[in-house]
Amino acid sequence: MRNCIIGSGYVGLVTGACLADSGNHVISVDQDAEKIRRLSDGYCPIFEPGLTEMIQANLKAGRLRFSTDTAEAVAASRVVFIAVGTPPKPDGSADLSNIEAVSADIGKAMVGYTVVVLKSTAPVGTTDRIKEIISHLTSEPFHVVSNPEFLKEGSAVEDFLKPNRVVIGTDDMEAGRVIAELHKPFVRNNKPILFMSRPAAEMTKYAANAYLATRISFINEVAEMCEQLNVDIDEVRRGIGADDRIGHHFLYPGVGYGGSCFPKDVQALASIARRIGVNADLLESVHRRNIDQRKRLIAKIRERLGPDLTGRRLVLWGLAFKPKTDDIREAPAITIIEELLEAGATVAVHDPRALDNARAVFGDRISYHEDAYEPLKGADALIAVTEWMEYRSADFDRIHDDLKQPLIFDGRNIYDREMMKRYSMEYYSIGRPPLRPHDAGPA
Ligand SMILES: NC(=O)c1ccc[n+]([C@@H]2O[C@H](COP(=O)([O-])OP(=O)(O)OC[C@H]3O[C@@H](n4cnc5c(N)ncnc54)[C@H](O)[C@@H]3O)[C@@H](O)[C@H]2O)c1
Repeated sequence: MRNCIIGSGYVGLVTGACLADSGNHVISVDQDAEKIRRLSDGYCPIFEPGLTEMIQANLKAGRLRFSTDTAEAVAASRVVFIAVGTPPKPDGSADLSNIEAVSADIGKAMVGYTVVVLKSTAPVGTTDRIKEIISHLTSEPFHVVSNPEFLKEGSAVEDFLKPNRVVIGTDDMEAGRVIAELHKPFVRNNKPILFMSRPAAEMTKYAANAYLATRISFINEVAEMCEQLNVDIDEVRRGIGADDRIGHHFLYPGVGYGGSCFPKDVQALASIARRIGVNADLLESVHRRNIDQRKRLIAKIRERLGPDLTGRRLVLWGLAFKPKTDDIREAPAITIIEELLEAGATVAVHDPRALDNARAVFGDRISYHEDAYEPLKGADALIAVTEWMEYRSADFDRIHDDLKQPLIFDGRNIYDREMMKRYSMEYYSIGRPPLRPHDAGPA
């Protein structure tokens, strides 16, 4: 089937590459001409495991191409996906201007029956708005479908190829069937394709993200209580996660969630609640706790090293909002670095993938290191912020010897306390009793 995807970011590129990989002809469109030029040369502008290879293979097979020409792509397609960004406005509500602009482009360009599919995360009523915009600009037949995307950055290709469900919001069963057919190759393991109303599909996406974010803020709140009560959150986490009704997912305490989805979607859902007069105390407090959580790590650092960090050199491991991505949008590391700089510290950073994106934010205000260990020599402390695999079994002897004092702040509870004790580290983590200098030493 001939499809186009408008918006070639994390969602658009993965959707386009995976649909091409299953045999469809796909045109992936973006307004960013430089991005399209590089993609056409087989260069993927984002890091996502398996994506570059898939793009290159499908370019070569002639099933995938890239374009800045929305009109030509829409006219040539039976299914048009919208995967543009829906960033937050200052009041937290979703900015729908990209979706509205694309809808107008589609309305002006479509030829023959077209199914327009909203993949972007947007509030209830957005597909109605798309329908309204398009119908003012065309007399061609079309249907609008809501098909929210649940992929996770870092495993986006894998998630798209093996979704745990596909949600199709439609008021036309034929349009729904067309979208279901496109997803059938990915649900051969009997995962469900759920048909529902368009508003229900729109709400499902926000509710799913808000719930996952709620679990994270919940465990972070419990972790703070554990710190005050001298209880180890890890033991509690394992104790509650073993309950089948609860499970272990998204119950890991840390410096809070980041990325381009959870922070904006929790705020967007809260803003919808405010607009329709529903009390959203729960969502507001999930968001507030998440902001506080970043500050709590800073508070620990300043409590240990003093409020004024002038003259202190601190090494930060991990910039991406989570492992296996180069995405630093809303990453806790950004807030943490800004606060450390504000307090006078000198900051050196390492990340396996996100150094270039960080350079665009911090310029020469911090130093960037391809080798995680290089900046440790003589530094005052190591601060771990993203749980990249390569940090897990680090060279602790070297960390111990190279730092001015063996001091680690672990914002993701990456390290085992007993192991830290064996390496004689002074160690502060989230929701677990600290290892102070007199605690450190062979277990
Ligand atoms: N990133 C994720 O993990 C994820 C997961 C599920 C859902 N979503 C949702 O999917 C949507 C897209 O997210 P993303 O992370 O892929 O965004 P992104 O910022 O990575 O990509 C959006 C792309 O759309 C392009 N664009 C914007 N306006 C355009 C226009 N008028 N014409 C053509 N191109 C245009 C931009 O240039 C950009 O390349 C958002 O609503 C997001 O909430 C994201």
